[in-house]
Amino acid sequence: MYKKITIEEAEQILKSDLSGDQKLYERADRVRREVYGDAVYIRGLIEFTNYCKNDCYYCGIRKSNSCATRYRLSENDIFECAKEGYSLGFRTFVLQGGEDVYFTDKILCGIVSGLKERFPDCAVTLSVGERSRESYKALHDAGADRYLLRHETADKEHYNKLHPDIMSLDNRKRCLFDLKEIGYQVGSGFMVGSPYQTTDNIISDLKFLSELEPDMIGIGPYIVHDKTPFKDFKSGTLLMTLRLVSILRLMFPYALIPSTTALGTIHPEGRELGLKAGANVVMPNLSPVGVRGLYDLYKDKICTGEEAAQCKSCLQMRVKRAGYTIVTDIGNVKREKSE
Ligand code: SAM
Ligand code: FES
Repeated sequence: MYKKITIEEAEQILKSDLSGDQKLYERADRVRREVYGDAVYIRGLIEFTNYCKNDCYYCGIRKSNSCATRYRLSENDIFECAKEGYSLGFRTFVLQGGEDVYFTDKILCGIVSGLKERFPDCAVTLSVGERSRESYKALHDAGADRYLLRHETADKEHYNKLHPDIMSLDNRKRCLFDLKEIGYQVGSGFMVGSPYQTTDNIISDLKFLSELEPDMIGIGPYIVHDKTPFKDFKSGTLLMTLRLVSILRLMFPYALIPSTTALGTIHPEGRELGLKAGANVVMPNLSPVGVRGLYDLYKDKICTGEEAAQCKSCLQMRVKRAGYTIVTDIGNVKREKSE
C-alpha cells in the first residue's frame, strides 16, 4: 500500500538535483497504477469563447490584447461539438472560456441543462473563472458536475505580480471553497515556471492544495505569448513540470491529473512523458477547427488544426505508446484514503 509523501519530503525533492528524477517518475507511476491501474480518462474540451473581461499579464486572450480575434460559440455550436464528442466515446465535456460577460447565469444554465438533457450519462465540467457563490449554485442546480479553476499561485505577493490590482488571491480562494461547499468536484492548479515564481511559491502551492484537497489538479508549464506584458520572460520547463506532476501524484494519490496541452506544446512527447510521470487524464479538443487557433493562450499551442476525431485518435495512439489505456467512462475520482 502506498504512503502519501509529506510536504517536507516534497520540499526535499524540489531542492534536489533534477538529474535523479527518472526514479521519481517511476515511483509516481507505481502509485498511479495502484489507484487507477493503466487507465487514462479522456475529457472533451470545448473552448467556447475567447472574450475575457480580465487582464492577467500572462494570458494571450487578456482583454488588452487588441490583436486577438474574438469569437464565441452559439448554444447550438456547443451542442454539436458535444454530439460529435459523444459519438467518439466522450462522457465528460469541459466547457472552458475567458470570463465573458455575455454568458450570464441564465444563458450558461441553459447550456448546461441542455447538455445534461441530451447526454444524461455524461459529466459537465465548467471552467469559466471567478463568479459569485449564487452563480456557482445556479450552475450546479442546472446540472454542472465539476469545476476547474486554477488558483495560479498561492502566494499573495506572487499573485499580485501576475494579475492587475482588481483581481485578488482571496477571491480566487473564496471561489474554490464555495465550489467545494456547493458540491462540485473541484479542480485547481498552477502554472510551472510562471514569471517571478520561486521554489517557496511552489511549496505554498502544495500547502494550499493540501488544504483544499481538490479532486483534479491541473498544472502545465507557463508558455510565453508575444502580445502580453510578459513577452520577455522565459517559458517553464519540461523537467520541472514532470517533477511536479510526480510530486502531486505522490502527495495526492487519488487525484485526477491531466497531462496538459501546454506540456505537449513545449515538447513533442510532453503528454506521453506527463503520463509516465503520474498523470492520468488527457483532454482532446472538440472545438470547431475554425476557432481552434483563436483560443490562443500562449505561443505555438498544439492541436489547432485537427478535427475532433483526429485529435482523439492521435491521443489514443500516444496514450497506448506510453503504456496506458484510454477509458471512455465518466471517470470520477477514486477517493479512497491511503493510510
Ligand atoms: N477563464 C478561466 C479561468 O480563469 O480559470 C478559464 C480559462 S484560462 C485561459 C485557463 C488557464 O490557462 C489558466 O488557469 C492558466 O493557468 C492557463 N494559461 C493562461 N495563459 C497561459 C500561458 N501563457 N501559459 C500557460 N498557461 C496559461
Ligand atoms: Fe490533438 Fe494530437 S492530441 S492532434
